[in-house]
Amino acid sequence: MTTNRTFTMIKPDAVKAGYMGAILNDIIQAGFSVVALKYTRLTPEIAGKFYAVHKERPFYADLVRFMSSGPILAAILEKENAVAEYRKLIGATDPQKAEEGTIRRKYASSIQENAVHGADSDENAQIEGSFFFSEFERVS
Ligand code: CMP
Repeated sequence: MTTNRTFTMIKPDAVKAGYMGAILNDIIQAGFSVVALKYTRLTPEIAGKFYAVHKERPFYADLVRFMSSGPILAAILEKENAVAEYRKLIGATDPQKAEEGTIRRKYASSIQENAVHGADSDENAQIEGSFFFSEFERVS
């Protein structure tokens, strides 16, 4: 079953570069509405827990360091077929492979510092959204 919600983070590279407002604007212009929003900085422990599925990957330690290097903006977004639609909007993980006009193509600099995270399935969108937000932090 597909749901109409996804989870995203605007990552430290994009926040640091001043792209937070532009990216949020692109997201809203693409027809997503904001269900929950949180500006925060992850500790290495929290970043490690969030990306625990990648624990065995060679880039895990760098990823945890990067994701805790500065503030991020976490959000739950709503749109019909949200997970797939959002992945289309952000483009491929590697910005060099991302299509013209996608968020990663426009704002990202490398496969690691790739401006945004997007949930890859409805199940993970639900898990990741609940990792950051309680029920009363979500606009229904
Ligand atoms: P994200 O979509 O948040 O999911 C896992 C993250 O790991 C990815 O974006 C990148 O920030 C990071 N990463 C670093 N190196 C790689 C790689 N070689 N392949 C995939 N993801 C990578």
